[in-house]
Amino acid sequence: MSPNTTSPPSRYTITAALPYANGPIHIGHLAGVYIPADIYARYLRSCQQDILFVSGSDEHGVPITIRAQQEGITCQQVVDKYHQLNKQTLADIGISFDVFSRTSSPTHHETASAFFTTLHQQQCLTTKTTNQYYDESSQQFLADRYIYGTCPQCSYTDAYGDQCEKCGNTLSPEELIHPRSAISGKQPILKPTKHWFLALDKHEDWLKTWILDTHTDWKPHVYGQCKSWLEEGLCPRAITRDLQWGIPVPLAEAIGKVLYVWFDAPIGYISATKEWAHAHDRDWKPYWQDPNTQLVHFIGKDNIVFHCLIFPVMLHAHGDFILPKHVPANEFMNLEGKKISTSRNHAVWLPDYLKQLPDKQDVLRYVLCANAPENKDSDFTWQDFQAKNNNELVAILGNFVHRSLVLIHKYYEGKVPPCRHIDESDAIVIRYLQDTPQQVAQRIEAFKFKEGLQVWMDLARQGNKYLTETEPWHLIKTKPERVQTILHLATQIMAQLAILGEPFLPFTSHKLAAMLQLDTLLWGYATRKEMIPAGTVLQKPVILFQRIETDSLPITSS
Ligand code: 2FM
Ligand code: ZN
Repeated sequence: MSPNTTSPPSRYTITAALPYANGPIHIGHLAGVYIPADIYARYLRSCQQDILFVSGSDEHGVPITIRAQQEGITCQQVVDKYHQLNKQTLADIGISFDVFSRTSSPTHHETASAFFTTLHQQQCLTTKTTNQYYDESSQQFLADRYIYGTCPQCSYTDAYGDQCEKCGNTLSPEELIHPRSAISGKQPILKPTKHWFLALDKHEDWLKTWILDTHTDWKPHVYGQCKSWLEEGLCPRAITRDLQWGIPVPLAEAIGKVLYVWFDAPIGYISATKEWAHAHDRDWKPYWQDPNTQLVHFIGKDNIVFHCLIFPVMLHAHGDFILPKHVPANEFMNLEGKKISTSRNHAVWLPDYLKQLPDKQDVLRYVLCANAPENKDSDFTWQDFQAKNNNELVAILGNFVHRSLVLIHKYYEGKVPPCRHIDESDAIVIRYLQDTPQQVAQRIEAFKFKEGLQVWMDLARQGNKYLTETEPWHLIKTKPERVQTILHLATQIMAQLAILGEPFLPFTSHKLAAMLQLDTLLWGYATRKEMIPAGTVLQKPVILFQRIETDSLPITSS
């Protein structure tokens, strides 16, 4: 249901997965998480709902320690570098976070620590002592990724403790033949260590009811993944690690241990909300505790278990928190037919894109949304990027806007003509204008952003068709009144394109709104009969999209 502008605003807490601060953002992250989340947030803002759109850097975990070691710098230096870079590039592509925080912030350390303490005091945690590999020379327990050895399946000699990259086999470190430490190269010993576990198994019953009975509206692949986890049965999950980088476990007996990154990261959404509230003199609690607030998590499919099962258990066990209403996880986007791989540098990195194709933020946003992996994996190719730019953005949208404005300037010195007599072809356009806001809204509210974008682009198609069929350039001598009506309606189409396009292509919408002297992009305004009154003087057209020639396309590294 479309938000009703006359009733009080609904509150939404919209989260976008915290990107790891150990590398730049790539198109897979954008297509799967940040673009859809941003479309949703911008749309709801435009409907004047009370929304908070949060994210931030995920700055703990083993990969960050590995990156620091590889680069010969500290973990803090790694996360400082990528936090700044990712915050900046996400802003540059137009992701409109209300807050983009980081998990190394003091607020987050306090919040995550206190969360653990509450769960501990409420006896929601269990402990277990197990034998784990320990490097005697560096005097530390080794995370799975820090142990190499020979794969028992394919005999590859450099398999990791959690997976063999050669044959893809999932492993546990004890299965490796001739294990060795990635730190010293020496053979580690097995040593007992105690860890704290979240007793997921105790929460199975309510999780089953909550997801399997009440969330049949979740996307089939999200629901399906949850169902299969629940049917297999849940086991207690370790939420502490022997590591030096992270949030210390707030217990005297746990010196040298930190919270597992996947325990603290989702709490990062709450910490970010607290920071935003503090900075804006607002209360953070309604965004996480008011049962009327809709909590929506945008994530990739590899994060489903954490956001649909583990984080909800943490919130529920802690008490006082709401649970997610929707988790519209996406599948993955491939690149030129192959899986995106950060380690093999098979990716289109956002900082490179912004540098190589400046001022084309909306082209990327358009292509990634048009080809979003909403229900199955999708593929990004430069050829398709070029085709969507040239054949859709330039040939349909840009062309419609350009020729409408050129005609209005040619015949009326830029002044919007009045609407005169209406004939059948005009009535079709008027009906289109009446229907489209609701049609796009429905798609966005159902997380069908791809379809929403198509419906929006169809409006531009309709505009072009209208001009082509009515041929105002032929009528100007014989039926000047018809031309007035046609160009009046063309102006209203452009206004609606600007308003309804803002969640998808914000840069373009603002340019178009400026040309039209349109000073609001509120969704409700798009339902007005006359968004741009007759007599308004429009600006001269500026080119919205340029054709892209093959030789100016970046080559994907692989
Ligand atoms: O998969 C990832 O990239 C994680 N850094 C996502 C964390 S989302 C949340 F829980 F913080
Ligand atoms: Zn193997």
